Amino acid sequence: MAAEDFVSRYGPWAVVAGASNGIGLGFAHQLAARGVDVVLVSRNREALDAAADEVESAHPGRATRVVVADLTSPEVAEVIDDATDDLDVGTVIYNAGAEHGGGLFHERPLDDALFLVDLNCRGPVLLAHRFVPRLLARGAGALVLMSSMAAVAGNGYVATYSATKAFDINLAEGLGVELRPHGIDVMTVVAGATATPSLLGSGARVDPDMFAVMQPEEVAREALDALGSGPVLVPGEANRGAYGYLRSIPREEASGLLTQGSTAMYGLPPLV
Ligand SMILES: NC(=O)c1ccc[n+]([C@@H]2O[C@H](COP(=O)([O-])OP(=O)(O)OC[C@H]3O[C@@H](n4cnc5c(N)ncnc54)[C@H](OP(=O)(O)O)[C@@H]3O)[C@@H](O)[C@H]2O)c1
Repeated sequence: MAAEDFVSRYGPWAVVAGASNGIGLGFAHQLAARGVDVVLVSRNREALDAAADEVESAHPGRATRVVVADLTSPEVAEVIDDATDDLDVGTVIYNAGAEHGGGLFHERPLDDALFLVDLNCRGPVLLAHRFVPRLLARGAGALVLMSSMAAVAGNGYVATYSATKAFDINLAEGLGVELRPHGIDVMTVVAGATATPSLLGSGARVDPDMFAVMQPEEVAREALDALGSGPVLVPGEANRGAYGYLRSIPREEASGLLTQGSTAMYGLPPLV
């Protein structure tokens, strides 16, 4: 899509929730490259300012705004809405949501599991509920929720993460059905392993024989290129092959294969 068409459909402003590094920063760059100004949201002002400077320098003429907010806070949607109420926001991308390690559910702190529920379920519901009326009022736009290959079936060692990411797929699909007739494209991005600071900092071992690792900006580029083409985007050809295969086999088998992936990633004892 030409930049001017992209801006008129999905701009002039976009909100990226979780934008100071990784795939979210990739989205900010890719949006700016398409002529869209970007609101970057995350918890750390210094990192946000650095990310905003990076986006503005790489894309002369583009504007950014930073909003410091914790996506697990009950007030987050109100905070972001208030901080952007003077902007014509055409796209909302709920990006943050990574898992930061693996282990048996009952041996990991309950707070870590509840954090993922807040970040990946409550946060997207709060933000979508607040912003969908704004998108509807303009009659065009996009809502993007990040999911993961880990969501395709239940996944041992990252059970809560996998479950919350399945929530995001279903939420996006349901909202897509409701909003498509009103000009709003809803998409969930079922990403595979991506070389982000969160993944690399989690101690994950990403064996290239097992995972086709993508770069954050590649994921963002494919997602934005695919807006409007359907509710689920799996970035990367190898990931699309894996996704298709996992969905073609019995769920129990898919759970086993995904669990083998998390076992290898976090160097844990085999469960299956
Ligand atoms: N990397 C992968 O291999 C991979 C694979 C599949 C799916 N995904 C999905 O892709 C998305 C992005 O992943 P990622 O690896 O780039 O890392 P991420 O940790 O999900 O995202 C990093 C960004 O989100 C911000 N953030 C994290 N927690 C936040 C919170 N509670 N409130 C506000 N901002 C928050 C971070 O800044 P602050 O920490 O400063 O707030 C940073 O800007 C996630 O939804 C993840 O599940 C990633």
